[in-house]
Amino acid sequence: MLNAREPVLTLPTYHPPLSGREGLRLDFNENTVGCSPRVLQRLRRLNADQIARYPEREPVEAIAAAFLGIASNEVLLTNGVDEAIHLLCETFLGTEDEAIIVVPTFSMYEISAAATGARVIKVAAEADFRFPVHAIFASITKRTRLIAIANPNNPTGSAESSTELLRLASYAPDAAVLIDEAYFEFCGETVLGAWRELPNLFLARTFSKAYGMASMRAGILAGPAAQMAMVRKVASPYNVNGIALACLPEALADQEYVRGYVDQVCAGRERLQQELQRLGIEYWPSRANFVLARLGESCRPFISAMNRRGILLRDRSSDQGCAGCVRITIGTADQTDRFVRALGEVVDELGIAQASAV
Ligand SMILES: Cc1ncc(COP(=O)(O)O)c(C=O)c1O
Repeated sequence: MLNAREPVLTLPTYHPPLSGREGLRLDFNENTVGCSPRVLQRLRRLNADQIARYPEREPVEAIAAAFLGIASNEVLLTNGVDEAIHLLCETFLGTEDEAIIVVPTFSMYEISAAATGARVIKVAAEADFRFPVHAIFASITKRTRLIAIANPNNPTGSAESSTELLRLASYAPDAAVLIDEAYFEFCGETVLGAWRELPNLFLARTFSKAYGMASMRAGILAGPAAQMAMVRKVASPYNVNGIALACLPEALADQEYVRGYVDQVCAGRERLQQELQRLGIEYWPSRANFVLARLGESCRPFISAMNRRGILLRDRSSDQGCAGCVRITIGTADQTDRFVRALGEVVDELGIAQASAV
């Protein structure tokens, strides 16, 4: 009988909703209005010949590298950050190794690391989801070969200073340290280029969030050229599709579009946090395009009531330390208006503010 490898048999399953997401989608941290019009124009100009060819990644890698101000051999375009994580795990982890992640965090670190057969060490965040620097240091062993950190973190929205992250990387020179900056545009904190001093450091960025291109599946993995050559060996030469590759230069060139969207999200984040504060709902200050709020036992009814109003939210109750928590993606000013109005209604309907005020 055919059996999957043991680590796969015991692998936790990641269950994001994969269909039926009609409405105002504040559940996946996507850009809520879509990509730059320049990307759409480029899409409309694609022809059959371009679709028929295998994709050519290198020229676009050079453009992405120039945009980041680094060398082409320090960059690999990937099929989303998901693939960047997968490739790092494939490159650096074996069955005798250990990977450290901080929980709660993005699910794919655990899945990709555990699938290799490596042991995944989960370090719990400190109170209020503060970065557990000392506990991570204490967890590093001779077997640690990967440390994956989302900065800002998902689902908490908290961010650690680059200085602290670099200190961590310098403490674990035999481990690949991935700083996943999927939400960089909403935060501004980065370790870009620091691998020149720390040759075990990697950085990931995505086109799925601020750039509004989640369905194209494009991300960037960057790091020291010598290590990137190893990761490149593991990647398919055609990992990023030609349609995404055709569009990425336009997306990168239209920074005005990205800035305009990010500014609205940052203003909305402030507004939403003030509103949650005013209503007496616990939340954690966020540096990303979402806010995590604790509704306790009202969490499920709250999400259902929002759903009935056409607003989708993500229940994060099953994440470590997140019982009763919902994650709310922030969109444009109009969408924040709509959300805040619905929030007021639902809070009244369910008596939530009174409950959390006592
Ligand atoms: C921290 C983090 N990294 C990576 C991803 C996935 O990015 P991509 O769409 O580029 O695979 C997400 C998506 O939610 C995320 O929150």
